[in-house]
Amino acid sequence: MDYQVIIPAAGQGKRMGAGKNKLLLELQEQPVILHTLNVFLHDQNCKGIILVIQPDDELMFKELLNPMEEKIKTVYGGTERQFSVYNGLQAVKDTEIVLVHDGARPFIKLSIIHQLVNDAHMHGAAIAAVPVKDTIKKVMQNQVMETVERSSLWHVQTPQAFRFSILFHAHQQAHREKFLGTDESSLVERLGYPVNIVTGDYDNIKLTTPEDLYFAEAILKKRSVMK
Ligand code: CTP
Ligand code: MG
Repeated sequence: MDYQVIIPAAGQGKRMGAGKNKLLLELQEQPVILHTLNVFLHDQNCKGIILVIQPDDELMFKELLNPMEEKIKTVYGGTERQFSVYNGLQAVKDTEIVLVHDGARPFIKLSIIHQLVNDAHMHGAAIAAVPVKDTIKKVMQNQVMETVERSSLWHVQTPQAFRFSILFHAHQQAHREKFLGTDESSLVERLGYPVNIVTGDYDNIKLTTPEDLYFAEAILKKRSVMK
């Protein structure tokens, strides 16, 4: 089943502290964003990639991209991730299914993408997530309030996949009501749409802080051994 993907890449990478957009940092001599883009460039079912970037990064991103690559369209992002995705959505044309996938998650597997696309086609919305491994407690003023039942807790990742009409409606509504969510799913949930979970992969980490780069190198090493 065909789909298009919006890749938000317009952040500043403040927590990474690299002094530039973390997506331009290299892993095994290739910028993070190229690792992410390559997954979708090599997928026959992916019919379009909307890459959302900041104007300040435009030259650097353009240098990385093959100008002959017709699958990628770049648009400018906003001050919040949600605004960046909203800008990306305006550039999506003619697709039943749209995915949103963080540029900062370079280890996404095709099998999970395809499950998400199929689930979104069947049910309207599907997101990748993995069960929480640690015990989670609710804390107020340094005091434990309660231990939250772990079996119902999931770490949510991207990709998140939707019927285009649902995600567009949810973003428009959030925009009108000035609601800011931390992911696309939260915008869709608040309108009452059901959202399916596709069990993802613990390797699908988001590169957020400097130590994530060590994990990333380890994942790449594991993959090169497994090849
Ligand atoms: N992003 C975006 N537009 C924004 C903020 C974030 O497109 N205004 C993108 C990032 O480039 C990243 C993804 O959304 O691919 C997830 O965001 P996050 O991990 O928070 O990245 P940054 O915002 O760059 O990092 P930080 O919050 O540490 O500054
Ligand atoms: Mg951020």
